[in-house]
Amino acid sequence: MATRTCLVTGSAGFVGSVLARTLVSRGWRVVGVDREPVPSWRECPDVSQVQLDLCDLEAVLALVGETGPEVIFHLAAQPFVPVSVAEPYATVRDNVLATTSVLEAARLHGVARVVHASSGAIYGSEPGEHTYFESDEPKVGANLYGPSKIAAENIVLAYSRTFGLDVRIGRFMNTYGPGDTSPSRIVPTAVCQALGGDCYDFGDRDDGSTALDFVYVDDVVAGYLAAAEVDDGALQGVYNFGTCDPVSVRDLVRAVSRLADGTEREPVFRGPVADNPRRKCLDAGRARKELDWEPRTDLMTGLRATVDWYREHLHA
Ligand SMILES: NC(=O)c1ccc[n+]([C@@H]2O[C@H](COP(=O)([O-])OP(=O)(O)OC[C@H]3O[C@@H](n4cnc5c(N)ncnc54)[C@H](O)[C@@H]3O)[C@@H](O)[C@H]2O)c1
Repeated sequence: MATRTCLVTGSAGFVGSVLARTLVSRGWRVVGVDREPVPSWRECPDVSQVQLDLCDLEAVLALVGETGPEVIFHLAAQPFVPVSVAEPYATVRDNVLATTSVLEAARLHGVARVVHASSGAIYGSEPGEHTYFESDEPKVGANLYGPSKIAAENIVLAYSRTFGLDVRIGRFMNTYGPGDTSPSRIVPTAVCQALGGDCYDFGDRDDGSTALDFVYVDDVVAGYLAAAEVDDGALQGVYNFGTCDPVSVRDLVRAVSRLADGTEREPVFRGPVADNPRRKCLDAGRARKELDWEPRTDLMTGLRATVDWYREHLHA
């Protein structure tokens, strides 16, 4: 059987690097694209890595023309809410313009399918307890991240309707796992503080009671793979991928401290009771039914793998 070729954008990032490695292990020829070099702990020798800015349309057209991918997995983005507040223009540029370059190249070079990484942030940040369904209206939240992902989704769907491009959109929240070193995310912060023996202090963004839907990175990758392979005759599909089993941030970081050093340190949360959602999760009924997708990694197993990875890589 001929080797299948795919492009993974955002391949120097957390989820893109795991996806690229997994695709290689499944026999794909993988071309990774990112503006940044791949950090040593995310390198995979069998991924051909190309460094470019996806907002450079000519460069993206040339790359897609030369490599001829069957599928483009588009994960590159500016995914951090605090950065979207500090750098709104750059966030819209990376999340909307870069997506348009990828779609344009896919259209002009006849790529069979584009799998686009979206986010549960498109459902907004209204107060209350929420289980979100794909049929819910996207809502503009309190920063530029959600709206930039809404805009990108709309453009993805518009390319599909206008030009017949086959597109699949995956919406996720709070992905965690080995290899994520982002200091603005709760799991890496908790693991670093616990392993470093630092004060267990989570600042003033929350009081710890907000319950969120944490999904392990291998389950996220399985979602992208299922979205790439589904053969349903449709031209587009939008899927939530979530556990629908939200955990409070306080319980999560207690569990991390138990796994890290065997003691359950009491975390400090100095924030107010948040006036954004108290509980939010993604209903994954459609992904279960249409893609046969399940979140297979329970929280403690995923956190243990994450803590072990940190122990080996950062505190060796
Ligand atoms: N990690 C999460 O919790 C989470 C949750 C929901 C959705 N998502 C989405 O999943 C995707 C992957 O997230 P991640 O956590 O791996 O992010 P990440 O920041 O680790 O990786 C994103 C990568 O995209 C690259 N990039 C950004 N703009 C670019 C451009 N213009 N040209 C080329 N490369 C560019 C960055 O250099 C980075 O390596 C994103 O689209 C994000 O919005 C992530």
